[in-house]
Amino acid sequence: MPLNKYYILMNNFLSVSTIESVDALVQKAIAIKQKEEQYRSIAAGKTLAMLFMNPSTRTRMSTWRAAKNLGMEVISLNMTSDTWKLELEEGAIMNADKPEHIKDAANVIGQYCDIIGIRSFAQLKNKLEDEAESVLNAFVNYSTKPIISLESACRHPLQSLADMMCISEHRPKQSKAIKVVLSWAPHIKPIPHAVANSFSEWVQQMPNIEYHICQPKGYELDPRFTQHAQLHYHQASAFEDADFIYFKNWSSYEQYGSMPLVTGNWLPNLEALATTNHAKIMHCMPVRRNVEVRDTLLDAPNSLILQQAANRVYATMAVLIDLLNLQ
Ligand code: CP
Repeated sequence: MPLNKYYILMNNFLSVSTIESVDALVQKAIAIKQKEEQYRSIAAGKTLAMLFMNPSTRTRMSTWRAAKNLGMEVISLNMTSDTWKLELEEGAIMNADKPEHIKDAANVIGQYCDIIGIRSFAQLKNKLEDEAESVLNAFVNYSTKPIISLESACRHPLQSLADMMCISEHRPKQSKAIKVVLSWAPHIKPIPHAVANSFSEWVQQMPNIEYHICQPKGYELDPRFTQHAQLHYHQASAFEDADFIYFKNWSSYEQYGSMPLVTGNWLPNLEALATTNHAKIMHCMPVRRNVEVRDTLLDAPNSLILQQAANRVYATMAVLIDLLNLQ
């Protein structure tokens, strides 16, 4: 397909609402993957800054690799150790431990690069504060350069784009609708909703997909992300005839950031997938093996977890090419 079309609106890649056509961007990323060498050096002379408030393996390395594949320079900063501590409050009297205001940092960093990627997780202490996306929005508001979310409090759009590529590449070729299930998985500590929210809002905009979510009572996601999903409280009913099952933990949204008591077994074995349509297994990783998902599922031939990670490079190449108006 021709790539000479731009799909990212408002010059920032932050959520599905900043995309004109999800499927078109997914197909663009798949086309880039198939002809990766054609894009070598097309962004030579451009610089990407990656700013991390939180740890990362896949996002850091795949985004770096994507930028390098296009010939870009990359500056990666751990914002908790490499830079001055940032004040977020507007009008603050900065006489405590934060020597630089985020609006100055955003403005200055923008002068040294052409695109800024930023990761800033939910704190899970205050719903409204997390939903305000203060760090991400400060960079959107105060930097003059395009912003890419490398996972924010509520969303992880680069992961979702890579996941949609996997579904598009591995879905049965016939045109009938497929069943995609997002299944809550256990965890040892409260986990943000970003991946589950983001996956939900992207998959609901893909063509010919029936979307189901199963979670224990008390773990329903923010309904603003799940309007077209069918909800289940048992994996057995959700898994029936499933083509893809995406396992992911998240904490309670209603009792924000808490972990209500869960009854029943939420760690299925291969036998529990017998009623599926040979479902493909997905997880964004990192994954706590045999806590969230059993080895037998993660290492099964129909597991897509490594392909999801690999697609992160091409998803990011598509986003960088689009934001730099290169094709
Ligand atoms: N899936 C994902 O974003 O992984 P990292 O947290 O390692 O970047």
